[in-house]
This record gives sequence, C-alpha cells and structure tokens, in this order.
Amino acid sequence: MNDPLVAAALSARTNAHAPYSRFAVGAAVEDETGRIFAGCNIENASYGLTVCAERVAVWKAMSEGSRRFRRVAVAADTVVLTPPCGACRQILWEFCGDVEIVLANLEGASETLRLGQLLPRPFDAHLL
Ligand code: THU
Repeated sequence: MNDPLVAAALSARTNAHAPYSRFAVGAAVEDETGRIFAGCNIENASYGLTVCAERVAVWKAMSEGSRRFRRVAVAADTVVLTPPCGACRQILWEFCGDVEIVLANLEGASETLRLGQLLPRPFDAHLL
C-alpha cells in the first residue's frame, strides 16, 4: 500500500494491545497540514475501559495541537473491511466532521468513503 496514511495505520496495528479479543486494529488521522498521527486499540481486563485505535489516534493528534483533519484510515486483518465502531464514529464526527475514511486490510484491499455515509443524521453541537 503506497498511501502513507494507510501505511501508518497498518504499522500502528502491530502495536495493538488486544490480549482479550485478539483483534488488532490500527488507525491513523491526517491533519490539514499533512501531519499523521497513528494509534492502535488498547484493551483492559475490565473490557469496558478498552480504547479503540481510532480514538487513540485522534487523542494523540489533539494532544499534539492538531484540530482540523482531512482523512482517517482504519486497518484490520479482515476480508470484509472493518469500519469504525459506533462510539468512534461519534468521536470522529465531533473532531473530524464529514471526513474521508479509508478502510484497509492486510491484503491490500481498501475502500474510501465519507464519515457521513457511516453516521447519517449525526448528533452534534449544532443541535445544542
Ligand atoms: N476496535 C477498534 O480498535 N476499532 C474498530 O474500529 C473496531 C473495534 C477494537 C476494540 C477491541 O479492542 C477490539 O477491536 C474488538 O472489538
């Protein structure tokens, strides 16, 4: 895969801490300046405290000062490409808006779509 964003997600996936599900995920976000921040899922024995790869990537970017994003990549070892979970869709909408999302697997398959397709009629600050 020659897309550096997907490459970053695939690389981060190798750092996944997923002893309970054994389902390793990598994600990466690209900010408006082209900086890339990657994350992996990090599970916890309490299960509920597990954090998905997408949120780790967004938190890393936010904590480094990035605020505007243009693309997100999600990588997992599945034939049917893995999309962000519902909680991550909400978080991505809050911080990335109707961003481009690239889903990818280890075999080089990928699909590009927009977050609005995955989260139609979102709840956000406009409704408050
Ligand atoms: N997971 C992610 O990190 N991102 C997704 O898009 C789907 C699910 C993680 C959470 C958990 O560690 C494991 O995958 C199984 O659900």
